[in-house]
Amino acid sequence: MNLITTTISALSAKLSPHIPIATAAVDLAAPLPPPESFLVAAELAALEKFTTIKRRKQWLGGRLAAKTALLRKDGGGLTDWEIVNEKDGRPGAIFIPDPGRAAPISISHSHNLACALVADHPCGIDVELISGRPRRLAPRFSAPTENEIIKDLDPEPGCTLLWCAKESLRKGVRPMPGFFDLELIKLEPGTNGYIMEFKIRGEIIHRCAAAIINNYGFSFCLPPSDF
Ligand SMILES: CC(C)(COP(=O)(O)OP(=O)(O)OC[C@H]1O[C@@H](n2cnc3c(N)ncnc32)[C@H](O)[C@@H]1OP(=O)(O)O)[C@@H](O)C(=O)NCCC(=O)NCCS
Repeated sequence: MNLITTTISALSAKLSPHIPIATAAVDLAAPLPPPESFLVAAELAALEKFTTIKRRKQWLGGRLAAKTALLRKDGGGLTDWEIVNEKDGRPGAIFIPDPGRAAPISISHSHNLACALVADHPCGIDVELISGRPRRLAPRFSAPTENEIIKDLDPEPGCTLLWCAKESLRKGVRPMPGFFDLELIKLEPGTNGYIMEFKIRGEIIHRCAAAIINNYGFSFCLPPSDF
């Protein structure tokens, strides 16, 4: 899990050095702490609506990752923070002792991993187990010009990174863009991963950072550097 957080920190220094962030990852294959140790009453009530073990674990893992990242960045205790969702599902965090102190967060989970990103500005994170799925679904989210840009990457990791990058932008940008509102225009390899540059709806340029870590594709976006 440390490799994930250190890689994201190194990439964020390259992506948007002026924006402080914190991140955390949770291994869903290991037992989670009891929900009462990190959820508040409203969250414990929300947990009741999940009927499948898989969804319950992902939701819990996402909240534990988000609260761990909040503590690292903004302090407090696990039960000082409540993770809430807007009508469209977008998560946010409220500091219960001072409800005016809210924090933008983003959550993602895939297979045995949940992760979260906290920043001072709207952000998006996405993780996806490397499998044949993004490659199979590629015509639904990528254009031939984008496939040309990622052609030097192995096909499955390459498609997974493009998928993660677009999903992180969809979570971090308002209003949420569609896959084909996002056009990859540049892929810049670096020591820890890639910086990917996108046009959003044909004009605004927005960048994501992306990496492959332990057979998962990751991407996250922060506001553009001139924010
Ligand atoms: C949000 C979305 C991008 C999530 O992607 P995904 O690859 O399926 O799943 P991930 O594990 O990466 O992310 C799931 C997390 O995204 C977050 N999320 C949900 N909706 C979101 C939104 N609108 N914006 C940003 N983040 C969102 C949640 O925290 C969710 O985890 P949780 O339910 O356990 O808290 C995808 O579900 C989507 O496109 N939803 C459409 C939302 C929409 O249009 N809603 C309108 C109906 S009111």
